[in-house]
Amino acid sequence: AIAEQIKIVEVGPRDGLQNETTVSVEAKVALIEALADAGVSYIESASFVSPKWVPQMADSTAVMEKVNRRSDVTYAGLTPNLKGFEAAVAANMDEVAVFGAASEAFTQKNINCSIDESLERFEPVIAAAKEKNIPVRGYVSCVLGCPYQGEVPLENVVKVAKALYEMGCYEVSLGDTIGIGTPLKAQEMLAAVADQVPMEKLALHFHNTYGQALANIMACLPLGVATIDSAVAGLGGCPYAKGASGNVATEDVVYMLNGMGIKTGINLNRLIAAGAGICKQLNHGPRSQVAIAELAK
Ligand code: HMG
Ligand code: MG
Repeated sequence: AIAEQIKIVEVGPRDGLQNETTVSVEAKVALIEALADAGVSYIESASFVSPKWVPQMADSTAVMEKVNRRSDVTYAGLTPNLKGFEAAVAANMDEVAVFGAASEAFTQKNINCSIDESLERFEPVIAAAKEKNIPVRGYVSCVLGCPYQGEVPLENVVKVAKALYEMGCYEVSLGDTIGIGTPLKAQEMLAAVADQVPMEKLALHFHNTYGQALANIMACLPLGVATIDSAVAGLGGCPYAKGASGNVATEDVVYMLNGMGIKTGINLNRLIAAGAGICKQLNHGPRSQVAIAELAK
């Protein structure tokens, strides 16, 4: 059955801004605070990766120092290794995330190792997080295709998702990194993973490169998935996935769910304002159909 309530994981400040032109620390802080004020309860706000690989995220520590935090909001950050985890702890993150992929080629390009090596690298991160009682989220990229190797066998998606879950990730987010999936394939992929990992531990992370993300989400909702990753204003993409556009826009997801009577706890007007604010800094308009329509009124 379709969930009555959906948890939105807002990834705009991280997945979005990691692939936009660099904005100031103040602009990032303002975005994160505006999202929290709009009722977004989970904000992926930082990424503790190598600044040589993703210079846009190099100021994550400074950003988290300045954010006026709300106690009812979870602030999370990416941690590819122990060095990243230590930085996340120093920045007082509520949660961290490790990120792997179902594609061997993408794993090499993104984190410079094989799938097996990546899982080995996550082990000490997850162990250190457990010791500090910090929940760890896990990402699987390329669940519906890879920019480098093309087709990704479904069994590889299931294998990596299951491995992350069994290693201790409390939730596994399934990433259509390059947004090439279509509804029935998305549904089939989710069903296959949910056969091995409980549905309530899964999240959808769909990019909108081919304009399919909302349709793909809709195809998956009847399976009972209740967590959706999205980025305000459809910000961003992935620097190692050429041609990847932003995540599905949070405004578009919230509008669709509102229309279906599904609760998110998010105030759409405030969300649109948060997106408009960061877009002003980026010198482009929002990549959300809902925001464009509402702002034109
Ligand atoms: P490497 O070069 O193999 O690692 O990179 P290394 O251990 O040999 O370190 C090389 C240098 O990086 C050293 O510095 C380290 O200190 C430094 P140097 O001695 O040369 O001056 N370093 C770090 N610095 C800061 N923070 C760290 C860190 N680790 C090492 N945590 C590494 C391996 C994983 C670090 C690198 O490949 C990397 O940072 N990759 C990140 C790539 C990335 O952020 N991609 C985007 C996020 S994933 C995504 O967007 C997909 C997702 O949205 C889901 C989807 O859509 O599918 C999640
Ligand atoms: Mg992504």
